[in-house]
Amino acid sequence: MTEKRIKAVIPAAGLGTRFLPATKAMPKEMLPVVDKPAIQYVVEEAVASGIDDILIILGRNKNNISNHFDSVPELESNLANKGDHEKLRRVKAPTELADIHFVRQGEPKGLGHAVLRSRNHVGDSTFAVLLGDDLIDVRDTLLTKMIDENQKSGLTVIALMEVDPEHIHMYGAAAVEATDDPDVVRVTGLVEKPKKEDAPSNFAVIGRYVLNPGVFDILERTEPGKGGEIQLTDALQELAVTEGVLGVVFRGRRYDTGDRVDYIKAIVQLASDRDDLGPELRPWLKDFASQL
Ligand code: G1P
Repeated sequence: MTEKRIKAVIPAAGLGTRFLPATKAMPKEMLPVVDKPAIQYVVEEAVASGIDDILIILGRNKNNISNHFDSVPELESNLANKGDHEKLRRVKAPTELADIHFVRQGEPKGLGHAVLRSRNHVGDSTFAVLLGDDLIDVRDTLLTKMIDENQKSGLTVIALMEVDPEHIHMYGAAAVEATDDPDVVRVTGLVEKPKKEDAPSNFAVIGRYVLNPGVFDILERTEPGKGGEIQLTDALQELAVTEGVLGVVFRGRRYDTGDRVDYIKAIVQLASDRDDLGPELRPWLKDFASQL
């Protein structure tokens, strides 16, 4: 099959109120997860799946996201003069990842509205959307499988994960039917953040989407839904009942950085797995846990 190159869109315009006051003057996407801002992991994931053109949708007070992906000549020459090649590599890495573009959302009218702001950049092509609150472990492929499924079927593909039914109210929830592939389901309906008793299943939408451009026309006329916001889930519900939507079921490691406790867990898990930090951190963690 000939590989079609697709662009990625990363909405980064949320207010991050759960992390106040840390996010009073700094976007939540810049909160460090070990030693990289959360959004850098998401950009790296897109790049790892073969994407080299990324559009980040910014909100107000988000300028330091664009600064992060720009070069800092004074710092770079300072590190080069000192011969500190390792730090120099780390400073330059975000700049060299991909061709990164930015657009401001204008008004915070919801995820569906943020995605619609990418229309001019994306054009009439399939594109990926990656949400910054969900970090997918680089060792577990998800987006690549989603892009493959889109290229095979021509359908929009979303990522799903089974969650505890007590938590389904925090996600979009999908009604699904099995296919021949145990990792792929047909999505027959979607509802944004339902009450536990109204949820069609415990399949939660996690923040990875491979969308056909037809979603833009739907988003143009999608009315505000849950929370008074234009919801991507509502547009996808329409797509599910018209042209069809597939779900790739993810069973790998996902870290939720949108919630304070989960954010702390993500940092501990990722750091303890790292070769440079794990050997020192793991024995300390065991000792610390034994005193709890
Ligand atoms: C968004 C989507 C929701 C999805 C979630 C995944 O919600 O609207 O359908 O389940 O991301 O993280 P948010 O968490 O931005 O409120």
